Amino acid sequence: MTRSEQPRLAVTIAPGLELANPVMPASGCFGPELGAIVDLDHLGALVTKTIFLNPRSGNPAHRVTETHGGMLNSVGIPSRGVGAFVDELLPRYAAYRPPTIVSIGGLSIEEYFDVADRLADVPHVAALELNISCPNLEAGGLEIGANPHHVERVVRGVVDRVQVPVISKLTPNVTSITDIARASEAGGAAAVTAINAIVGMAVDLRGRRTQLGNNTGGLTGPATKALALRMVWQVARAISLPVIGVGGICTAEDALEFLVVGATAVQVGTATFTRPDTMLRIISGLRAWLAREGVADVRELIGSLQTGPAGHGLAAAHGRHATLAVNDYGAGTQNTRRSGRR
Ligand SMILES: Cc1cc2nc3c(=O)[nH]c(=O)nc-3n(C[C@H](O)[C@H](O)[C@H](O)COP(=O)(O)O)c2cc1C
Repeated sequence: MTRSEQPRLAVTIAPGLELANPVMPASGCFGPELGAIVDLDHLGALVTKTIFLNPRSGNPAHRVTETHGGMLNSVGIPSRGVGAFVDELLPRYAAYRPPTIVSIGGLSIEEYFDVADRLADVPHVAALELNISCPNLEAGGLEIGANPHHVERVVRGVVDRVQVPVISKLTPNVTSITDIARASEAGGAAAVTAINAIVGMAVDLRGRRTQLGNNTGGLTGPATKALALRMVWQVARAISLPVIGVGGICTAEDALEFLVVGATAVQVGTATFTRPDTMLRIISGLRAWLAREGVADVRELIGSLQTGPAGHGLAAAHGRHATLAVNDYGAGTQNTRRSGRR
């Protein structure tokens, strides 16, 4: 690559769905109103907040609290319903150049099908992302996404109803995320997104109460990145579909790490709340990093992880490595050093 050439950032996340670059918002952490301060035409795609069939209010207050390196939310996904979405909100997304991925949810498997039916022939819907972290009220409130049989059924049912690619967004609140990824693939998903928020809680010690009105909430932000990276890596190896990585991404380097472990694209959620222009900074950071490293095409990085002893492969190539100090009892402490080259 010569100095004047720009690295190629385009990626394909599903058949017929090529993005100008691999960066998009995470569902629920973005709305078209961000367009007033950020040029949304530069994003790879737009992703809507999860919509349900009918209007619903969210959870009781308090709905959000800060944690070390992240936040807990129990917003509970308020929704104006699919009708109002199609009539009033979707046109605001369609005004922008990037394709719109519509996130849909349901409190029963049939509700996903009903929402999919309503969206099947609607223009400007480039793909559906299934938020399968919703409680299945017909199965005692367990997340639909925790049961591989339910996941395969819901994915297949939606795939059968729409022409656009269907992306299954995996919940991390399971014993084996790879089983859920495989069920999504078996159901006909075109891609998977990993991961949704991790169930956590926060305590108001003086009041001996939970801080969130719903008792528990979803942990997101930088505190979750290591877990999300591990899950994306496992999922990318378990299935042959593109993976969209999400969880704690704040910088171009974070995004690059997700690509290296196997993600084809990334989503950014919580970081946008602290800096609305985070996604644009990540895109320009990706471009600068690739140019500096002489990588002509971002796709060269996807799944390029070298496993094996620390100090080898890409980590060493970029001057970053880990030492494992093992004490007499076999317990280890991980010390990460940076060379200062970045
Ligand atoms: C306030 C808030 C609302 C969210 N709403 C949704 C939603 O409607 N649908 C969904 O699939 N995920 C939702 N999420 C999860 C995010 O899409 C994303 O998976 C998660 O925040 C991890 O990414 P992050 O660490 O970059 O925030 C929400 C997250 C937050 C913080």
